[in-house]
Amino acid sequence: MSKKESTPKIIIAIDGYSACGKSTLAKDLSKKLGYAYIDTGAMYRAVTLYFLRNEINIESEAAVSSALSKINIDFINVNGKNRTILNGEDIEEEIRKMYVSQYVSPVAAISAVRRLMVAQQQKMGEKKGVILDGRDIGTVVFPNAVLKLFLTASPEIRTQRRYDELTQKGQVTDFEVIKSNLLERDRIDSNRADSPLKQAVDAVVIDNTNLSIKEQLRMVQVLVKERIKTLKRNK
Ligand code: DC
Repeated sequence: MSKKESTPKIIIAIDGYSACGKSTLAKDLSKKLGYAYIDTGAMYRAVTLYFLRNEINIESEAAVSSALSKINIDFINVNGKNRTILNGEDIEEEIRKMYVSQYVSPVAAISAVRRLMVAQQQKMGEKKGVILDGRDIGTVVFPNAVLKLFLTASPEIRTQRRYDELTQKGQVTDFEVIKSNLLERDRIDSNRADSPLKQAVDAVVIDNTNLSIKEQLRMVQVLVKERIKTLKRNK
């Protein structure tokens, strides 16, 4: 049996506040490990875009349920990059825009939306060898994940990173507008009744305020190796 075949594949759950670098870490890690990456925030953003475009009244259970039955979300890989597809349309760029960020948290608080997204995420992850990032991965979606990380960073550094990202894409946005959006999303995400953003008791907390992307990646690679070693030992 080759070394690769004998290495167990695990589920890695990455949760944390908005703009903490969860997706950067998840993408880099997925390349290093050859794992699939599921950006669960993109799924909530895709639903939000659909609701906005179709003027769905989120107060109406019937309207939400009918809209959800018409939504199909996929991920495809184009030149090594993840693209989010909504009903056949590539919406990867659109869902990162500010008008979607400003509406996504109330949509993500709707239980019917969460039920559907969580079921799809569990199905996508059942083959293992997968990294998911979001808010409820270690607590609700995969509570038995072998490695759970909870990322955090200061609001200033998170705002700066998001500001740089949007500016690079030519989407000039005011620093304070970004900051208040991040904090407001954290507030709604942490206080909603259904699966709020919270640290799983067995998560490893990483405050990356003063860590480079490379330092954080190296740190997590060590954790992955340790967990896999323990799994093999206990087999
Ligand atoms: O990770 P992100 O910023 O793209 O996520 C967008 C929003 O989606 C976030 O404000 C909260 C919600 N979300 C969630 O409720 N549960 C998840 N697993 C992922 C995201």
